[in-house]
Amino acid sequence: MASYRELHAALQAWYLKEGRHDLPWRQTRAPYRIYLSEIMLQQTQVATVLERFYFPFIERFPTLAAVAEASEEAVLKAWEGLGYYSRARYLHETAKMTGGILPKSAEELEQLPGIGRSTARAIACFAYGESLPILDANVRRILYRFFRRRKATERELWQMAERLFDAEHPYEYNQAMMDLGATICRPRNPECDRCPLATGCRGRKAPERYPEARRRQSVPIRRARILLHSREERWALQRSRERFHGGLWHFPRGDVAGKGRLLGSERQSYSHFTLVAEVWKVEALPPETEAVYRTPQEIEELPLGGIDRKIQRLYIR
Ligand code: ADE
Repeated sequence: MASYRELHAALQAWYLKEGRHDLPWRQTRAPYRIYLSEIMLQQTQVATVLERFYFPFIERFPTLAAVAEASEEAVLKAWEGLGYYSRARYLHETAKMTGGILPKSAEELEQLPGIGRSTARAIACFAYGESLPILDANVRRILYRFFRRRKATERELWQMAERLFDAEHPYEYNQAMMDLGATICRPRNPECDRCPLATGCRGRKAPERYPEARRRQSVPIRRARILLHSREERWALQRSRERFHGGLWHFPRGDVAGKGRLLGSERQSYSHFTLVAEVWKVEALPPETEAVYRTPQEIEELPLGGIDRKIQRLYIR
């Protein structure tokens, strides 16, 4: 078995050669840009963040102070399509709470909304050089395998993270671990032959046994009727107050009261369910529906949920 010193050296060398150095959040030390990337990457893949969201968001909000000055609705609009909108609401809250200046330690960052322990450490490490390990999904998988564990508690995982950590090179170590998880120590078919940690990895003989496979819960189908109601070229909309899509706009949901015509059916996948929605053109909304009426151009400017944007594009002109 290789020593930790040897493994750290191998990981450093591997990162220097194979690391994704050109990722834009690795080309900067600006706390806001690093923070933004870590929040976007919490639930969204690198490719999607890079291709469609990171740069436009920075263009729209060049600083955290600019986020603080904007309305929640404007921030949600820039987040539209990324999903997990609580991230955008917390980002806005954090901007306002800090006046646009992020604190400089992981401990303080962790107090802010939307920033968990691992994200706080990633930001503190990448922006300020604080020497602490992180524990995101990729790092977890590496640790389960490296220490040949099928199960572990949160506490044990953090302990494993501390044990393997290279405190002398925190920046490179943490970035390297994410790259290793994304490119080599993948969930399926890990490429142990290319892995710089292979000489110390206890799970190497059967990496896919670690961690224990989670049983995939089948996602339930939720059904809804989406009601398109117009008045003088304007369309009825409501602003969501529920937690899931709070602050986003959507077409009214409900029963078809009176005359209506079925236009089609649309489907949208979310993390915990699949929504199957009938789209109805209706002549009246159910009584007591609170709605505002907006032109198609105005609707373009509002933050809309995923299925509602799809329906707007397909059915409204
Ligand atoms: N996922 C979360 N943070 C990341 C980072 N800094 N680089 C690549 N992928 C990541």
